Amino acid sequence: MSVLAVILVVTTSPSSLAQHETGADLLGGERAFRDYCANCHGPDGDLISQVDLGHNNFRQPYSDEEIAGIIMNGIPNTPMPPTPRVTEEQAYMLVAYLRSLGERDNGALSGNIARGKTLYEGRGKCMDCHMINGKGSVLGPDLSSIALVRSAAELEQSLLEPDSEVQPGNRFYSVQTSNGEMVSGRLLNHDAFTVQMLDSNERLRSFEKSQLVSFGFSNPDMPSLATGYTQQEIADLVAYLSTLRRGAAQ
Ligand code: HEC
Ligand code: HEC
Repeated sequence: MSVLAVILVVTTSPSSLAQHETGADLLGGERAFRDYCANCHGPDGDLISQVDLGHNNFRQPYSDEEIAGIIMNGIPNTPMPPTPRVTEEQAYMLVAYLRSLGERDNGALSGNIARGKTLYEGRGKCMDCHMINGKGSVLGPDLSSIALVRSAAELEQSLLEPDSEVQPGNRFYSVQTSNGEMVSGRLLNHDAFTVQMLDSNERLRSFEKSQLVSFGFSNPDMPSLATGYTQQEIADLVAYLSTLRRGAAQ
């Protein structure tokens, strides 16, 4: 942690936070951040090198007013633009949101990237279903640049409650053939008569529905890590996944 961050934690007294921190403000701030800021700063606010908005790690111990001013007016002679569409009220919602991310950070376990990677490649068996930079399996979604589209909080939720947000294209399908074979896998395409899927050996399989005993969607096979893993292990995995940003413009 840098010296600046230490100063900031001390100056961020609970009373200065309380001013704006209602649930609705935080939601409004989160939405505004996604709409106006995340394309440059990334979902966790740390995509621009040397700039870290999400961990109470600003380059100077700014007051709320100063951050709101930066948001509305930009930083002259730098690529940080003014955002005229953001009202003053929204600017303070953004400040509250960024401060809340930092607060959550202080309370949360910090993950260890190397331990997360070891867990990912070993006991977690994640490679049985996921691909990172060409290594692993295509059964589940490719994670090579997952950190560009998911925040740390969303990643944690994906690990603990995998069913909560299934992306189209990640739907699983199961069939039983007339000779009793059960096949399940990632659905590629289906219409009234046929279904095509990738089975667990990553082979393309195509079936005529009229030839099948049964067929239909099945739940995604992403196992929940809510049991069998410590909170520290989840934090480690999230830390590792948060480094995956292949193709990021840096
Ligand atoms: C076009 C890209 C872009 C957009 C959009 C953008 N920023 Fe920035 N922002 C930057 C850059 C680049 C810097 C660093 C500027 C510098 O060199 O000082 C920066 C710096 C900042 C800083 C100063 C951080 C520090 O530690 O000193 C804050 C705060 C900030 N941005 C907040 C926001 C917020 C909130 C939004 C959305 C309303 C936003 N930015 C939108 C590019 C952007
Ligand atoms: C048996 C196969 C399987 C295993 C093992 C597995 N996953 Fe998944 N995973 C999936 C599937 C299928 C999805 C997509 C369905 C969904 O979004 O819930 C998914 C979704 C995800 C997502 C969300 C992706 C997104 O686009 O938001 C993350 C992150 C993830 N897995 C990480 C992991 C990690 C880390 C491990 C190892 C601890 C793991 N998975 C083990 C099958 C698996």
